[in-house]
Amino acid sequence: MTAKLAVLISGRGSNLQSLIDAMASPSFPAEIALVISNRPKAQGLERAAKAGIPHKVIDHKDFKTREDFDTALDETLRLANIEFVALAGFMRLLTPDFVRKWRDRLINIHPSLLPSFRGLHVHERMIDAGIKIAGCTVHFVSAEVDSGPIIGQAAVPVLPGDTAETLAARILEEEHRLYPACIRLLVEKKARVSGAVVQYDSSVTASGVLQNPPDSD
Ligand code: GAR
Repeated sequence: MTAKLAVLISGRGSNLQSLIDAMASPSFPAEIALVISNRPKAQGLERAAKAGIPHKVIDHKDFKTREDFDTALDETLRLANIEFVALAGFMRLLTPDFVRKWRDRLINIHPSLLPSFRGLHVHERMIDAGIKIAGCTVHFVSAEVDSGPIIGQAAVPVLPGDTAETLAARILEEEHRLYPACIRLLVEKKARVSGAVVQYDSSVTASGVLQNPPDSD
C-alpha cells in the first residue's frame, strides 16, 4: 500500500517536481494524490497537470480569515483521504488549529540549517552574515514559522563570490535530494516525533538519509 501524500505549493514547484520524479520509482512508498496551490498562477500546477496528478487552487484571497482558508484546506485534504502533507514552497502561515489537526503528518522543507535563518530572504541573510556552511532542512511543522522537530538536513558550502542566487541554486539541488529521502522515512514510519526531536528506527543510518542523502533510486 502506498501512502497518500498531498503537496502544498505557492510557486515554482521544483521541490514538487523532485517528489514527482521520486515517485516514478515503483519502490517509492508514497503517491502524490493531490497538489494544492494557494496561488492560481503557480508554475507547480503545470507540473502536476503534466504528471497527471489531481491539482486544485484554494486561493487565500477568496477567504475572509486565515481560519476560513485553513478550514477549506483541511476539508479538501480529508475528502481526498490524504494521510500526509508536504509543504513545498507553500508561503502561507498555517493556523495553530490546522497544525494541531495534522500533527506528526505535516512536514516542510526550508533552505537553511534550522533553527538558524527562519523566515524569508534566507539566502541573502546568510550571505550577509558571512556563514560558510549553509544547507536545507526537512522538519515536522509546529505552530511557529519554520520550526518543529528536524527529520533531515543537508549541508552546502557558501563559496567566495556567491550571490543569493548562486547559493540558492546550490542549496536547491540538495533540497531535491533531501525531501524525497525524508518523505520515505516519514511514510515508512521510520521517523517519529518524540518531544522536540525526531527518533528513528534502528535501520536508519545518519549518513544514509539524515545528512546529505545520496541520490534516491
Ligand atoms: C524552496 O527553496 C523551499 O525550501 C522554500 O521555498 C522554495 C520553493 O521552491 N521554502 C521556504 O522558504 C519555506 N519557509 P520550489 O517552489 O521550486 O520548490
